Amino acid sequence: MDRIRITGGQHLHGTIPISGAKNAALPLMIASLLTSDTITLKNVPNLADVSLLIRILRNHGVDTAVDGKRANGNGHQGDTLHLTARDIVDTTAPYDLVRRMRASFWVLGPLLAREGKARVSLPGGCAIGTRPVDLHLTGLQALGVDIDLDGGYVVAKARNGLRGGIVNFPKVSVGATHNVMMAAALAKGETVIENAACEPEVADVASCLNKMGAKIEGAGTSTITIQGVDHLEGATHTVLPDRIETGTYAMAVAATGGDVYLEGARADLLPAVIDVLREAGVEISETNRGLRIARNGSGLNPVTVTTAPFPGFPTDLQAQLMALMCRAEGLSVIRETIFENRFMHVQELARLGADIAVTGEMAKVRGVASLRGAEVMATDLRASVSLVIAGLMAEGDTTVNRVYHLDRGFERLEEKLGSCGAQIERLHS
Ligand code: EPZ
Repeated sequence: MDRIRITGGQHLHGTIPISGAKNAALPLMIASLLTSDTITLKNVPNLADVSLLIRILRNHGVDTAVDGKRANGNGHQGDTLHLTARDIVDTTAPYDLVRRMRASFWVLGPLLAREGKARVSLPGGCAIGTRPVDLHLTGLQALGVDIDLDGGYVVAKARNGLRGGIVNFPKVSVGATHNVMMAAALAKGETVIENAACEPEVADVASCLNKMGAKIEGAGTSTITIQGVDHLEGATHTVLPDRIETGTYAMAVAATGGDVYLEGARADLLPAVIDVLREAGVEISETNRGLRIARNGSGLNPVTVTTAPFPGFPTDLQAQLMALMCRAEGLSVIRETIFENRFMHVQELARLGADIAVTGEMAKVRGVASLRGAEVMATDLRASVSLVIAGLMAEGDTTVNRVYHLDRGFERLEEKLGSCGAQIERLHS
């Protein structure tokens, strides 16, 4: 299993290109199930999760091709993916595949819309919490879907086809919004989703669906209205930049000090994060090419932050912020309200000398004068990158084990940080 070794203490200077968003690329790829024509996606990040989803989609009958050459030759342009679901050959998504990537559960809505039936494994819990799928199921039931649970599988049928309905989510769910929105695109009549997720990735998927001929309004707000159409066509779409990768590198620069240009990053995708980082003392400016992040030698101010659905502070940046606050001058308070078990990085940060006390959903982080490198273990994607940030700040060497978590969501992390002066290398074992 690969490991990453970091020797801390270097300032970061240079340019980091921001990749396409994993959490938009995955549902966009799944949307290809809705049409027999080809969907071409540009700026797709080269990640383990994308490769796994390609396998899952192939299992349903999707032909996939990745353009072999990276467009501009400097290795920083995302892949172009062509996906064609001419015929759906299998409406079952097996446990062995779904358990490895929860987002693959989102094939349920598109399979139902296209074939009127689907059998999709329940994903099960994962490191960051129980993560139920009840909202996906009640949302689809409102569109006329019959649902049975059998042997760990959701067995869903829409005997008379999908019909539009009112879906009022009691809680904001990104995945349930994607699932219902994709299904409703091909339902008969109008669907209104209330309390929809407002995440930019939902708006990006809706924009691609509209290019395919769907009639969706309001995506990116809490009310989405969908007029169902008979069929959808092929389209070409460019995946929006990854706001979580943007925030992660912004925090890495905040942690080490320095001056880095995040090429292609968009400030409107992470308003709450920019506010928090500015409050902490980080300089952030936006140009038409991206975001510039700088911190001189001055200390970091502590912050009080609560994670929330967009436009709030994202849970996917909570671990990284916590790593940063380990060196702030005072007490930070971080509340995690989205997932119940997303503090697994705390014990690992403590191995570097962090002072963090967790009570329920609240973590109190008392800044320390220095962190010392240590051997640590990645537990999930965002937790692992928080350990990289801590390693960049720490004195001496930090080795992060179980790096496969990182490869699920960060493209060429060592290369991107290394090009800005970080001492970071991958150890193959
Ligand atoms: C998406 O997961 C993201 N995944 C997650 O990113 C992200 O952390 C999460 O949204 C929140 O922003 C992708 O986009 C692929 P949810 P999702 O449904 O859709 C509860 C990463 O690191 N809930 O919005 O699965 C749920 O338990 C990942 O890139 C129900 O109760 O998350 C949670 O408490 C990890 N019932 C809350 O809603 C349901 O049926 C929000 O979850 C569904 C969800």
